[in-house]
Amino acid sequence: MQPDFSGFALVLCSEIFVNAEIANLPRKIPMSQAAELNRRFAIADILAFEQSPDGFVVAQVTTRHASARIALQGAHVMSYQPAGQPPLIWLSKLAKLAPGKSIRGGVPVCWPWFGAHPSNAQFPGHGFARTVPWQLIEATLLPDHRLHLEFELVQSDATRARWPQPSTLRNSVTVGPELEVELATTNTGSVPFELGQALHTYFEIGDIRQTTITGLDACDYLDKVDGGTRKTQHGAVDFSGETDRIYLATHGHCEIHDPLLKRRILVTSTGSHSTVVWSPWTEKADKMGDFCPEGWTSMVCVETANAAEDVIQLAPGATHRMTAQYRSIGL
Ligand code: BG6
Repeated sequence: MQPDFSGFALVLCSEIFVNAEIANLPRKIPMSQAAELNRRFAIADILAFEQSPDGFVVAQVTTRHASARIALQGAHVMSYQPAGQPPLIWLSKLAKLAPGKSIRGGVPVCWPWFGAHPSNAQFPGHGFARTVPWQLIEATLLPDHRLHLEFELVQSDATRARWPQPSTLRNSVTVGPELEVELATTNTGSVPFELGQALHTYFEIGDIRQTTITGLDACDYLDKVDGGTRKTQHGAVDFSGETDRIYLATHGHCEIHDPLLKRRILVTSTGSHSTVVWSPWTEKADKMGDFCPEGWTSMVCVETANAAEDVIQLAPGATHRMTAQYRSIGL
């Protein structure tokens, strides 16, 4: 069963208050974060927010084009399914949906570094953006019925302890006939900084053993299952074991070919110079604890990134935008 919060009772939390005019209630009652988001942003039959008992809030989106669920933590797209089609995005049946835990599947935001921190091994892999709260700052139903949501990472003492560089991070998610995601990082300080990042997207596929990826031919890559050795791709990428590669100087377009689900998934990007391709295969997935048995066979990560030698140098006052669009086309 896919994790789902429908039917969860709204939970009272202490930070947000609204006036209560109802007799016999205290003048102010606490309002859950989901209730506050519903009050400010809900759109009838299109956008609503739900909250689990431990405070994990999810935006539920249903447009005429597609449905999607997006967690406020990490501004993390958990699911996306174009109308009348199978899901495009994979979410582990054992994904942990809880405050402070990273979610196995969906579109994790890796920021402000990719992989291990460049100098501090104690800091979490892939940065911290995916495990901290974000706030929703805008929800707009566009004239063509796409729904646009804009999130901003909430800065705190905990985030500043790991990333003191003055900056802002926004994630814009547009749910339409394709899924569009844009990460915008602004350097609000007075010195340049180095930025690593990825939209670590998990795609739903029929079987990894029959899946191929085109668009990376002739690109160099760092092979992480071979000690980071630099190699060159020849032809399409196919899979016969654990695969963990950072393709460098990539061109912003690749395709996942899925003969079992009879579709191609087009991955188009801008502001990204690296593409990470990851399949944990059986042994690594078994060790990770949040893959169900055989779960690894039905997913592949194709990550729109700036990683390794492709990290971004961001000047004071500058904004870097990295975008990705995901669309499926029947074979
Ligand atoms: C990929 C990395 O991007 O993410 C892999 O290249 C890593 O090395 C994988 O194992 C999953 O990372 P995590 O932190 O979500 O378990």
